[in-house]
Amino acid sequence: MIIGIPRERKTLEKRVALTPDGAHQLSRMGHTLLIEKDAGLGAAFPDSLYVDAGCEIVQSLEEVWTRSEMVVKVKEPHESEYQYFRPGLILFDYLHLASMPDVTKALMKGGVTSIAYELVKGVDNSLPLLEPMSEIAGKLSVINGSYYLLSQNNGRGVLLAGAVGVPRANVTIVGAGIAGLAACEMAYGLGAHVTMLDINQDKLEEVKVRFGNQVTTSYSTPQSLNRAISLSDLVIGAVLVPGAAAPKIITRDMLRDMPRGAVLVDISIDQGGCAETMKPTSLDDPVFVEEEIIHYGVCNMPSQTARTSTMALTSATLPYIVKMANEGPLNALKNDPSLYGALSTHKGKLTNKAVSEAVGEAYDSIESVL
Ligand SMILES: NC(=O)c1ccc[n+]([C@@H]2O[C@H](COP(=O)([O-])OP(=O)(O)OC[C@H]3O[C@@H](n4cnc5c(N)ncnc54)[C@H](O)[C@@H]3O)[C@@H](O)[C@H]2O)c1
Repeated sequence: MIIGIPRERKTLEKRVALTPDGAHQLSRMGHTLLIEKDAGLGAAFPDSLYVDAGCEIVQSLEEVWTRSEMVVKVKEPHESEYQYFRPGLILFDYLHLASMPDVTKALMKGGVTSIAYELVKGVDNSLPLLEPMSEIAGKLSVINGSYYLLSQNNGRGVLLAGAVGVPRANVTIVGAGIAGLAACEMAYGLGAHVTMLDINQDKLEEVKVRFGNQVTTSYSTPQSLNRAISLSDLVIGAVLVPGAAAPKIITRDMLRDMPRGAVLVDISIDQGGCAETMKPTSLDDPVFVEEEIIHYGVCNMPSQTARTSTMALTSATLPYIVKMANEGPLNALKNDPSLYGALSTHKGKLTNKAVSEAVGEAYDSIESVL
């Protein structure tokens, strides 16, 4: 199979879809790997490493898309890539279509067979391709949040760990899944007082098992969330309803009770965000102020640690790429229940119900289109 890896076009997106080691595994199996010039440079993987791994370096975006049978990417396609969409082309990628009506329409119009990383499901209902990036984004949310709390960034001038005779900062994390737990690990490690909220008791139980009484847990209701937020220096939103737009559980009114100069990092922004006041921002302009609270809404946070993230992503995606390349993507989809439900568009049809409800396009079941 001919597999193409374009250079990512999203602002300051420095990850690449495959490490040279991952590409080598595919080329050893007899597949052709087309890597766009400098695609790995942002993650410190120069073209020479891909050449050593048996890949072909191609000079233009157009060449990668037009020659490839399957394009593997990190972030959703950029507008400049829509022109290369065509029926029969396979796209394997983070898509987050529930918050991307334009991308959804373009994929449907182009007849692309798109398979979303974030919807690949393990037998235990885990999301194996989302987990590594959620873990990294969770850890980064505390680093980014604590940076914007600094006085020179117009933050509250609060140090998470406090100091001798000065209380530590309060960090509230809503959503105790992969990203939330990673954020908790980091915030707790930096000495903050952490409160975790979730609507799933099992998740809160997991926090208790890992952190004992060092971290406060609370079942999430509008009231408990409001109470926790009103005392917080840093609030981190990390909720997920798989495939659907994030529920807007942090309201504008709640922010009015927060201390001035506090920071809100909404990791769930890639699913539309869980705060009413949040909007997507980019790495070159990551924050804005609303209700005197610093809002951070970057959709590609793991790009800040492009090398770590690329390595973590490749280890998660490679088994699925190998399967699709060896068996043929449609056979692999039909044979592997983990991949089956990740089919998002095919032959102009939208095959994810939650996405169809979020973007207002008609839904067709996977069985009816395959
Ligand atoms: N911004 C970025 O760069 C970036 C990077 C990676 C992941 N993410 C996003 O981070 C989010 C979290 O991902 P994850 O892997 O941790 O998901 P996860 O499924 O592991 O955890 C989500 C948690 O949210 C909880 N939840 C759902 N609805 C809730 C509600 N109404 N109130 C309280 N809790 C609720 C769930 O019970 C679950 O424990 C996702 O939207 C994901 O796409 C963003």
